[in-house]
Amino acid sequence: MALSATTETAFANDPAWIQDAHVDHYIQSWSVQGAKPRVITGGEGSWFWDSDGKRYLDFESQLVNLNLGHQHPVVVEAIKAQAEKLCYIGPAMGNDVRSELAHLIAEVTPGDLTSTFFTTGGAAANENAIRLARHYTGRHKIIARYRSYHGATAGALELTGDPRHHLGGPGQSGVVRMLDPYTYRCPAGHPDPCPVCTGAPHLEELLMYENPNTVAAVILEPIVGTNGLIVPPDEYMPAIREVCDRYGILLIMDEVMAGFGRTGKWFACDHWDVTPDILTTAKGLNSGYVPLGTMTVSEPIAQWLKSNLFPGGLTYAGHPLACASGIASIKVYRDESIIERAAESGRFLEEKLLGLAKKHPCIGDVRGKGLFMGVELVKERKTREPLVPFNAKGPNAAPMPEMMKFAMDEGLYLSFFSNVIRLTPPLIISHEDIEFGCEVLDRTLDIADRHTTG
Ligand SMILES: Cc1ncc(COP(=O)(O)O)c(C=O)c1O
Repeated sequence: MALSATTETAFANDPAWIQDAHVDHYIQSWSVQGAKPRVITGGEGSWFWDSDGKRYLDFESQLVNLNLGHQHPVVVEAIKAQAEKLCYIGPAMGNDVRSELAHLIAEVTPGDLTSTFFTTGGAAANENAIRLARHYTGRHKIIARYRSYHGATAGALELTGDPRHHLGGPGQSGVVRMLDPYTYRCPAGHPDPCPVCTGAPHLEELLMYENPNTVAAVILEPIVGTNGLIVPPDEYMPAIREVCDRYGILLIMDEVMAGFGRTGKWFACDHWDVTPDILTTAKGLNSGYVPLGTMTVSEPIAQWLKSNLFPGGLTYAGHPLACASGIASIKVYRDESIIERAAESGRFLEEKLLGLAKKHPCIGDVRGKGLFMGVELVKERKTREPLVPFNAKGPNAAPMPEMMKFAMDEGLYLSFFSNVIRLTPPLIISHEDIEFGCEVLDRTLDIADRHTTG
């Protein structure tokens, strides 16, 4: 139905109308409804602005997806050109952009990852990865970690270890939990050598209880994103790979957040030269300009699929607009040396954060790789007592929301999970903007310092 002239005018010009309609008619992700949002009217590069013209530096890349920043002209042009040419064609049809993107992904992904199923986002990629792993191995259990987020569809939420998985209902059976290589707060007390943080002993123990012949796959975020920017020790990933190989278990890496240059390499697994059997991505692949995710499988699985059914399908698998934006993005990654820039800017950001750690007693740990950084806040450095408890809500979460609001009012968009602030700006960010962000962060951390006891 066409909008009435009054509605059209109101929609175009009135931020208050937009807020009201947002509250009355739109359901927002993972939220109690009813809060009026800031109305954002535009963005460019590392910045976006609201209906009052106030500008914000996007230190979160929205949902850690805008790797190329807002409105990269090459990607915008590619979407426009594809829209003129062919907006949609069914997934079984041969299509130039679909084939080209699948070919490019085989080029940039590590090892023998070769064939890609396209989805509309990260959850659907993981959903298809575990279904395929079960089908391929004939086994049903999946080992997933506690400090993880794998998406909000039924299966992906069941894999998710963070407290949101409690909201998912009974879900599918067969997910077994593994502890995380979280050296700063090791669940095993971090003896030397540590059975959890080195990977193999803990996984082997789980397999002893579970029977390896029932386990289809281990799924993990090689560097944990949402749940606290957790980087495993260097020996972890090769050890997990070796155990999986020994028992015929597939290794699925969820690089929805960490992939496509975020950590200063094409993929986080490249830091350890470990290739998974299945790699899932989304977000940074095309900066989310058009919904797109991928599930890429290794050569043996690709060959197996030549005589076995692939057990999944989506109307929008290999959507031409999404594929065109993915091709353009990979071109930008290469032409503008985005991966190298992310590594270099990541070192610059890390230096700044380590400088802030010297000044602010609330900083317990600075960690991450590339522009995938986290700052963990504590009440006291010696005891490492978290500034706010795990998954704190309401008054228990103070002062985290107050800090986010302060930063936003000062023109810096930040985000956090429990007591960890995420610093994940667009990979194209300038040093000058990193300096601005860290200057606001410096003043923001004064709020947390007032809550320290050490
Ligand atoms: C590691 C990881 N996997 C999966 C997802 C889910 O992706 P989507 O929201 O596109 O379904 C996310 C989203 O934040 C993520 O960070």
